Amino acid sequence: MKFFVDTAEIDDIKELNATGLLDGVTTNPSLIAKSGRDFKEVVKEICGIVNGPVSAEVASTEYNVMLEEADVLSRIAENVVIKLPLTWDGLKACKTLTGKGLKTNVTLCFSPNQALLAAKVGATYISPFIGRLDDINTDGMQLVEDIRQIYDNYAFATEILAASLRTVNQVSDAALAGADVATIPPAIIKKLADHPLTDKGLAAFVADWKKTGQSIL
Ligand code: E4P
Repeated sequence: MKFFVDTAEIDDIKELNATGLLDGVTTNPSLIAKSGRDFKEVVKEICGIVNGPVSAEVASTEYNVMLEEADVLSRIAENVVIKLPLTWDGLKACKTLTGKGLKTNVTLCFSPNQALLAAKVGATYISPFIGRLDDINTDGMQLVEDIRQIYDNYAFATEILAASLRTVNQVSDAALAGADVATIPPAIIKKLADHPLTDKGLAAFVADWKKTGQSIL
């Protein structure tokens, strides 16, 4: 499963990119607003740091304007992926942009039918929002399982990008459900390696190694 980081914070992106574990970045208008940065500038900076796909979302809800915005965004860097909302206008724009050879990420997906439509218009990625479904007492991870089955039934190439992940367990659950990609907030990625038994075991090994009085170097 590929790891994308879900943020527009440059320091976090640099730190995670240095681990070699980062495959891409997703942003959205809320994350851009939170960063306080100019949208196009920050996308350009992110694309210069990370080699992988960087999702940048259109602001318009109208097909024609979405295409104009996509044109501007796609010129920022080769690794820009155009993020489009799962609406009829967004789907139409996805079809047009796919025809032009651009990569797309159809976002705000909350049902298997929506994911089916996105695959049929050739989306590169579909983003089911797990956490927001869990927020309303619906099983978000079941949606990933359903999309996996539908896409496998018809050999759709659209990649499932599990989004709106808020816990470490959701990351492993998304992997078990067959998501191709997980986009994860920086704080959650940083917790993935943590385990109290690892810390305890390492403390014992360090102490025992000291007792040997040896040095490897
Ligand atoms: C994905 O592309 C979105 O940016 C993100 O995962 C939304 O997460 P949230 O529901 O925590 O805002």
